[in-house]
Amino acid sequence: MESKLIFCVLFGIFIASSFDFNDAVVFKFTNVVCESFNKSWFVFHNCRLKAVSRSKVTLNMNATILHPTNDMTCHAQMFKRASGYKPWLMNIKLDVCLFLRRKNNPFFSIVYSFFKDLSNFNHTCPYVGAIIVKDVYLRPELLRLAMPTGDYLLSMKWYYYQKHQFDMNFSFTFVEDLLQS
Ligand SMILES: *[C@@H]1O[C@H](CO)[C@@H](O)[C@H](O)[C@H]1NC(C)=O
Ligand SMILES: *[C@@H]1O[C@H](CO)[C@@H](O)[C@H](O)[C@H]1NC(C)=O
Ligand SMILES: *[C@@H]1O[C@H](CO)[C@@H](O)[C@H](O)[C@H]1NC(C)=O
Ligand SMILES: *[C@@H]1O[C@H](CO)[C@@H](O)[C@H](O)[C@H]1NC(C)=O
Repeated sequence: MESKLIFCVLFGIFIASSFDFNDAVVFKFTNVVCESFNKSWFVFHNCRLKAVSRSKVTLNMNATILHPTNDMTCHAQMFKRASGYKPWLMNIKLDVCLFLRRKNNPFFSIVYSFFKDLSNFNHTCPYVGAIIVKDVYLRPELLRLAMPTGDYLLSMKWYYYQKHQFDMNFSFTFVEDLLQS
């Protein structure tokens, strides 16, 4: 029993060490859906994934906010696929302008960390004009969260002054790192 375990551990280390740390994890976008429900306020020009390599898929997005907003709420919900998507872990309604001042939500801080240096939304409210996301991809080193292997959906419904303006839904796949699990 014990020797079997040791063998497994050694074998695991051997497999894992033959890859570089980041190669041992699959963490990538599989789909994105962006839709505006009020094109006189929020317009998507572009919202697209690009497969750069087998393990790296980048997201590019270009949108315009046509009138300033000082009140944004994001209803963010995670789902994990298990014969249909089932709610998983997170279901929050976040005051985004407050978040941008205080960074006061640990889960949203993780989501934000993927975007902040590859987008132009690192500032406080009001928000107006171009919203640009350039070559964002999912970096496992930013995920400070134990997550089981699986297919996930992060749904984000955005409200300005309590009115539903647009959705951004990301699907992604996560495969646990052999070394970490
Ligand atoms: C749509 O956007 C306009 C601003 O262009 C705003 O005045 C109006 O309240 C919005 N309507 C809805 C239903 O959100
Ligand atoms: C975003 O789209 C607008 C409208 O199509 C375009 O004028 C602008 O150059 C685009 N910006 C970027 C950074 O791609
Ligand atoms: C984002 O904003 C904070 C606070 O203004 C600043 O300290 C940080 O350097 C900014 N990060 C980037 C990537 O621009
Ligand atoms: C995004 O996902 C949520 C949750 O499944 C769903 O209610 C919503 O309709 C989706 N939005 C779009 C634009 O597909």
